[in-house]
Amino acid sequence: MATVTLTDNRNGKKYEFEILSPSVGPDVIDIRSLYQTTGMFTYDPGFTSTASCSSNITYIDGEKGELRYRGYDISDLATKKTYLDTCHLLLTGKLPSKSELAAFDLEIRKRSFVHEGLKNLFYAFPDSAHPMAMMSSSVSALSAFHYEHLDIDQEEEFQVMARRIVAKIPTLAALSYRRSLGIPFIYPDIERSFTENFLYMMRAYPSAKTIIRDVEVKALDTIFTLHAEHEQNASTSTVRAVASTGAHPYAAISAGINALWGRAHGGANESVIAQLEMIGSVDNVDEFIKKAKDPDDDFRLMGFGHRVYKNFDPRARILKNLLDELKEDLGVDSELLEVAKKIEEVALTDEYFIKRKLYPNIDFYSGLILTALKIPKSLFTIIFVIGRSVGWITQWIELKHDKEMKIARPRQKYTGPVSKKI
Ligand code: ACO
Repeated sequence: MATVTLTDNRNGKKYEFEILSPSVGPDVIDIRSLYQTTGMFTYDPGFTSTASCSSNITYIDGEKGELRYRGYDISDLATKKTYLDTCHLLLTGKLPSKSELAAFDLEIRKRSFVHEGLKNLFYAFPDSAHPMAMMSSSVSALSAFHYEHLDIDQEEEFQVMARRIVAKIPTLAALSYRRSLGIPFIYPDIERSFTENFLYMMRAYPSAKTIIRDVEVKALDTIFTLHAEHEQNASTSTVRAVASTGAHPYAAISAGINALWGRAHGGANESVIAQLEMIGSVDNVDEFIKKAKDPDDDFRLMGFGHRVYKNFDPRARILKNLLDELKEDLGVDSELLEVAKKIEEVALTDEYFIKRKLYPNIDFYSGLILTALKIPKSLFTIIFVIGRSVGWITQWIELKHDKEMKIARPRQKYTGPVSKKI
């Protein structure tokens, strides 16, 4: 058994901890008995050195810039498979055969409708509500309509609930969007594929023909695939923390949506495009790079940097290639694309960014594609939600099967007053 020894230099006491090896990636030190044996906690704000669980879903090598779902390289999945193939892979551990995909696809189409009562919830929101606020509330409200899955002990029921989430989230997303504009709600069209149906629910008007081009479906489907899973990021860890208490799965997913909203996480895609528009021209890039490097300026280059990737985010590379391939067909804003490319070029050769290993992340290029798809900025994080919903629920299922799972309950280094008297 491999171990590490911890020596307390205050008293010379030695403690031994087992080293556990994953199938690939860094070894982990099993410190579960640390407090019992030493009376001490570890201190790790932001969990930068902490593996919070075992998982066989997603592997990231941040130094090499690699991402794999269930062992498959993200680039293969994004270029050779559809989002629904990827959902099947994540949920069942296996890429579907042709007939399995057809059955899965049909089930998702059929489950895409939401209860009319849930639809009515949207009328209660003010016109000014952000789509993410409506999204998290309506996903939470799903638990009021599908409460029968509160005590799940059957794999079959896990899968039904997971498919329901994957199927209904685009419908709720489209309802959030349409409510924010005050335009009539549109029902899903089960004749259309998953991604085409979402674009349809966004764009359609009663009794008008809705045009959705294949190139648009391909671009958005790729974006969904790239967002589908990303191991223990902030929103997934939130889903797991809520799930660990035994709360309802929709409550856990709703919490994940709220965690995703922040600018340091999924909300970054909205900020990237706003920032590109603010920079406006390649001539202004140097000035903004200077601001980003200034320690006295809060300004950050949005879409740059990542907690795990200390190399190019592989998803950003795939999106950059997709942009180059489809920019004319999609009608991508060429000026903004030039600004983005110039920022990337300058940043990748600048000492500040090189030293801190700051590379473009997935959000850097996704906004350009979403804008070309005529998806408004306020909906960018919703697109992320749609893609990631399968990852969250896959992690939720994994947690439920995990015999070593405990309620998420970290400790602290208390710094307040020791004892006071009234
Ligand atoms: N622009 C300028 N400087 C940056 C940036 C940036 N985008 N990101 C990090 N830095 C600098 C920090 O100022 C810090 O510098 P210092 O060492 O001189 O103090 C150093 O790089 C390390 O940064 P941290 O914030 O400590 O790194 P952390 O791993 O905690 O944060 C994060 C990662 C939140 C993604 C950060 O890089 C960031 O804010 N990026 C911009 C927002 C963004 O694009 N978020 C999307 C992430 S991808 C996703 O969630 C899907």
